[in-house]
Amino acid sequence: MKYSTTTGKLTDARTDCLIVTLRTAHAVARTLRAGEFVDVASRDFVDKPGRTLLVTLPKATKIGRLLLVGTGDGALAAADYRKAIGALATALKTASIKDAVFALDDVAVTGYDDYQKVRVALALLSSQLYRFNAAKQQEEAQPTQIQRVAVHSDARRRASTTRAVKHGQALDTGMAFARDLGNQPPNVCNPAYLGREAKKLAREGRVRVKVIDERELEAMGMGAFMSVTRGSATSGKLIVVEYRGASAKKAPLALIGKGITFDTGGISIKPAAAMDEMKFDMCGAAAVLGTTKAAIEAKLPINLVALVAAAENMPGGNASRPGDVVKTLSGQTVEILNTDAEGRLVLCDTLTYAERYEPKAVVDVATLTGACVVALGSHASGLFSNDQTLANELVEAGEYVWDRVWQMPVWEDYQQALKSNFADMANVGGRDAGAVVAACFLSRFAKKFKWAHLDVAGSAYQGGPAKGSTGRPVPLLFQYVLNHS
Ligand code: BES
Ligand code: MN
Ligand code: ZN
Repeated sequence: MKYSTTTGKLTDARTDCLIVTLRTAHAVARTLRAGEFVDVASRDFVDKPGRTLLVTLPKATKIGRLLLVGTGDGALAAADYRKAIGALATALKTASIKDAVFALDDVAVTGYDDYQKVRVALALLSSQLYRFNAAKQQEEAQPTQIQRVAVHSDARRRASTTRAVKHGQALDTGMAFARDLGNQPPNVCNPAYLGREAKKLAREGRVRVKVIDERELEAMGMGAFMSVTRGSATSGKLIVVEYRGASAKKAPLALIGKGITFDTGGISIKPAAAMDEMKFDMCGAAAVLGTTKAAIEAKLPINLVALVAAAENMPGGNASRPGDVVKTLSGQTVEILNTDAEGRLVLCDTLTYAERYEPKAVVDVATLTGACVVALGSHASGLFSNDQTLANELVEAGEYVWDRVWQMPVWEDYQQALKSNFADMANVGGRDAGAVVAACFLSRFAKKFKWAHLDVAGSAYQGGPAKGSTGRPVPLLFQYVLNHS
């Protein structure tokens, strides 16, 4: 989607589709001498959030259509505003509209300023209007897909609107990038592919990308990472993206993504049902790369390091066995009791690797546990942290863009589940509190910095008929990074 800003009188707009409230629709149509079209068409229109009406204007007008968005009178509650925007996105998706002007200037939303009003609208539009392989589907015709949305503002709101559109555009680009990576089939999107896609980020200034191969990972001492990737014919990579948007003296934020491009479970192999969905096991990596792309796009004045642990988890003659003991980069040893708990194994070494940046904070993002899906479903990502200020910042960023997280404990009490007779820890506990125990495992490698872990197993993709990557938690992460810049 291409977003832009526009000012001036609405009646002078030249567009396929002007998006307005009922009252503005009447006013605009009257000025264009097409009042009766709107009067007649909107006679049965129920003016409330969730309802829309598309009114085609006579040929002589410069505005092709009016898209009436139900809002009712007075300020809208935030939830109703999201509902209204959701309905308008559906309307845009189903009609053959190429470009539109978003002109809900006269809508006030309780608790939102002008900037947030535009940000939330664009985030929702971007989410709903994304299509995988958009270009290809377009050639196959069907309704013309919307390509451009201009956000209207009066002179007074110009600065805030321009800023919101800039950030909304960056987020759209980053989220689409993340979703494309997630939706790609696993025979295409393997660790090397993620490395090549990350390298493309370096075309833009102040970005350095390094792709570290297995030989080096082994030599460095990343025994846990290597234990996962060793069973695959496709070699694992640690991908490092450094974006320098601020002075080199400023400590960076570090984002770490789980990039298991396919998770069979390894020797502890998964059941066949819906196993294809394990191509989404790199959605954490995709979110981290997408957020980095958005930060670069928005030229945020911040230093950011993205670390992607990319590997495939396969069974085979060279794969790790349950019972194997491996040595992590931190020096701690791990008994692998279940090869399907591989995310934490690649992440623990990557967390240790992050120490060299002396980061201000580290946030890892992973489709880590089925237990988190059981606990929270798809509405919230699981949040775990060793620093309450950092946790609060993430909660707030998520609420701001409606990409929410819910905090769960990382209490010492849960650590005992990881006791092993043969190593410093096991890689799994029992059945209880699976998402928490996984976070507890990671916390042992995050002692040297402020750290948070997002378990996005339930939020990063959808199964069923709408199967696909959601792009979450790119909105949350982008907002968090933005708030730090
Ligand atoms: N990638 C999975 C987690 C997952 C499961 C994500 C379902 C999305 C949907 C992860 O690698 C895994 O297999 N976790 C195991 C951990 C268990 C062996 C302790 C799980 O959740 O079953
Ligand atoms: Mn697994
Ligand atoms: Zn996994």
